[in-house]
Amino acid sequence: MKKRVGIEALAVAVPSRYVDIEDLARARGVDPAKFTSGLGAREMAVTDPGEDTVALAATAAARLIQQQGVDTSRIGMLVVGTETGIDHSKPVASHVQGLLKLPRTMRTFDTQHACYGGTAGLMAATEWIASGAGAGKVAIVICSDIARYGLNTAGEPTQGGGAVALLVSEQPDLLALDVGLNGTCTMDVYDFWRPVGRREALVDGHYSINCYLEALSGAYRGWREKALEHGLVRWSGTMPGEQLARIAYHVPFCKMARKAHTQLRLCDLEDAVGPGPGTPEAREEVAKSSASYDAQVATSLGLNSRIGNVYTASLYLALAGLLQREGAQLASQRIGLLSYGSGCMAEFYSGVVGEKAAERMARADLEGVLARRERVSIEEYERLMKLPSDSPEAKAPAPGTFRLAEIRDHKRIYVEGG
Ligand code: CAA
Repeated sequence: MKKRVGIEALAVAVPSRYVDIEDLARARGVDPAKFTSGLGAREMAVTDPGEDTVALAATAAARLIQQQGVDTSRIGMLVVGTETGIDHSKPVASHVQGLLKLPRTMRTFDTQHACYGGTAGLMAATEWIASGAGAGKVAIVICSDIARYGLNTAGEPTQGGGAVALLVSEQPDLLALDVGLNGTCTMDVYDFWRPVGRREALVDGHYSINCYLEALSGAYRGWREKALEHGLVRWSGTMPGEQLARIAYHVPFCKMARKAHTQLRLCDLEDAVGPGPGTPEAREEVAKSSASYDAQVATSLGLNSRIGNVYTASLYLALAGLLQREGAQLASQRIGLLSYGSGCMAEFYSGVVGEKAAERMARADLEGVLARRERVSIEEYERLMKLPSDSPEAKAPAPGTFRLAEIRDHKRIYVEGG
């Protein structure tokens, strides 16, 4: 019998501070509606150098193990997907292994391809288990990033930070993946990048949106071809994309999910056989349907709108937000997921929500995680943004979280809140 493999549980870590997005708009002399309805943001996570990619990753993994009672001796692989690592050589995963005292027998490594890096890790872990190479062991995949464009840039309201840790196993209580049906699309483009040595990303914002949409089209069509072959979806009264109960997208800012959904529907409308809206304008109108967006996408965006972009973790925040809100209703239903990483790479895949999704998500206590944050002023946010990356504030970590304490002899030293 084919193995069931996928995500058994997840945990989320967020920075301890955030700004209200309307405060940021007012400070920048921008109509707040541009950031709220134009971009879909409400709040934005703010980090200081002590809350780096390692600290957030270790906090998320420790929380996953503690909340879900993971037997650490069963972990055979630990992967960190990130595009904001802290060393050209030493992986974030090795720090997490040491900080959490995880088994020395594990395979550890980082995966990088902009925001797609986490999905690359998830697929490596899933296929490792599905192939039998894992021999009954489980994997932890952590997506951890700090999105940083800089003060007074167009990307500023789309910053954020955090981490999502995923437990991948043969007991996919959250999501059993349709292994082997993924659609992929890659193109060599400069839409968003961060040359070595730079702390802030460079981005050709509007072009990056077009690259995302073009790559989505390729990936979705690739998945759809296989899903049609396997009878997961059909050309029938409804379009294939409409037969997915929900679709979670990579969310660099919430409005992007709406654009992505319109594009996915356009792919179906353009490829549909038989009568349909004939002109490009008519297809565009049907693709934009708010009813479809509200039914299939809107409920996944609660966490993204309060945290901001978390690069590799953004898609998994959307999945977490969706299952937190609708885990019980979605049990046994198939959903779609679209991962996008600039540079670029998109992957569309699907999976079936598990019967225990709601129970697993209750243990993740996402409301509690957000409620423990502190709202800060724009002056405080700007002060934190200006701190050099090697100068963490002398601040005790909250219980159960990790912080970078200092860098000594080029080595990073972390402390755990007791
Ligand atoms: N009231 C309501 N809405 C308003 C408004 C107002 N007063 N003023 C403007 N808007 C709307 C605009 O109409 C626009 O909406 P549409 O796109 O639906 O037309 C929206 O607000 C944004 O306005 P602009 O396009 O004028 O905004 P901008 O030029 O300042 O920048 C951005 C927007 C390009 C997304 C910029 O924030 C950016 O560069 N962000 C980072 C790059 C990014 O996230 N790219 C996404 C694809 S790449 C990717 O996904 C990888 C990744 O994670 C980075």
